[in-house]
Amino acid sequence: MALETLLSETLGIVRKPILPKVLNKKLTLITGGSSGIGLAVARQIGEAGGTVILVARGLENLEIAKKEVEELGGTAHIYTCNLSDTDSCKALVEKVLEDHGPIDVLINNAGRSIRRSVDDAYDRIHDFERTMDLNYFGCLQMILGFLPSMRERKKGHIINISSAGCQSNVPRFSAYIASKSALDAFSRCLTNEVAQDNINITTVYMPLVRTPMIAPTKTYDYLPVMSPERAAQLVLKSLVTKQKKVTTPLGSLAEVVYDVSPTSATRIMNLSYQFEEKLRAYQAKQKAKKAQAEVA
Ligand SMILES: NC(=O)c1ccc[n+]([C@@H]2O[C@H](COP(=O)([O-])OP(=O)(O)OC[C@H]3O[C@@H](n4cnc5c(N)ncnc54)[C@H](OP(=O)(O)O)[C@@H]3O)[C@@H](O)[C@H]2O)c1
Repeated sequence: MALETLLSETLGIVRKPILPKVLNKKLTLITGGSSGIGLAVARQIGEAGGTVILVARGLENLEIAKKEVEELGGTAHIYTCNLSDTDSCKALVEKVLEDHGPIDVLINNAGRSIRRSVDDAYDRIHDFERTMDLNYFGCLQMILGFLPSMRERKKGHIINISSAGCQSNVPRFSAYIASKSALDAFSRCLTNEVAQDNINITTVYMPLVRTPMIAPTKTYDYLPVMSPERAAQLVLKSLVTKQKKVTTPLGSLAEVVYDVSPTSATRIMNLSYQFEEKLRAYQAKQKAKKAQAEVA
C-alpha cells in the first residue's frame, strides 16, 4: 500500500495499485541488484509481487537480497557476473536466456564512480578504462545480449541508470560522466532504430543517493541527498510511464542554464571546483600546523 501511495505522489495521476499490474508476469533483470538503488528497486518490485533477476559479483549480498525480495512477496533469481569482463557478460546472457527465456525489462544499474580531477589523472588512463568497462561496455553487452529476443517478441524496456552529473558536467567526475554519457548517446541512437518494435529505452538522470557508492566522499555526509527508496521510485516511475528521460528539477535546471548560457554554467561549476581546492589546501595546512604543534 505504501508503494502505491508513493507512486501516486510521484506520478500525480496513478490512483490504483498500478505496479502489480505493470509487473504482471514480467521478468526484470537488475544489474547491481544487491546494493543501494538496485536493491531498493528489487525490494519494491518484490513488494508488488514481481519477479527479478539480480546480478552482481558478490554471491553473499545477492543471497541476502534474494531473501529480502522473497520475504516481501516477490520472486528473485540470482546470478554472479563481473560486468566489466566481456566473457563474464556473455556467459551471463547465455545462462539467463537458457534458464528463463527472454526478459521483459533490463535495468542497467551496476556502476562504478571515480571522483578525481583530471589534474590528478594525467598518468591514470586506467581510471577512464575502468569506468568505460563497466558503465559503458558492461551495459552495452547486456543490451546487445537481450535486445534480439525483445525485438523478436516486439516488447521490451531498457532502463539505464545514469547521473545528474551528465546534466551539470560536474567537475572531478570526467571519467565517470564520460562513460555514462557514452551509454546515453548509444541509447538515443538505438531508440531510433527499435521504436517500431515497441522497445522503450529510458535514461534516469539520478541525483546523489545515500548508498555505499558515495560513502567514501566525506563531503556528502553533510549534504541532503536522496534515499535509495526514493531513487527506486524514480526508476519504477519510468517502468510505469516508459518515458525516455527521468530527471530531477535541479538536473533540468542545470541543462537549461548550460543551454541558455554555457559561459555562466562554466563559471558556476568552476567556482565550486576552485572553492573545494582552496578548502582542501586550507585543511591540509591546518593539519600540518596541528601536527607541528604536537611535536613541539
Ligand atoms: N549513489 C549515487 O549518488 C548515484 C548518483 C547517480 C547515479 N548513480 C548510479 O546508480 C547506479 C547504482 O549505484 P549505487 O549508488 O546503488 O551503487 P552501490 O550501492 O555501490 O551498488 C553497486 C552495485 O553494483 C554491483 N557491481 C559493481 N561493480 C560490478 C561489476 N563489475 N559487475 C557486476 N556488478 C557490479 C555491486 O555488487 P558487487 O560489488 O557485489 O559486484 C552492487 O550490487 C550506478 O550506476 C551509479 O553510477 C548513483
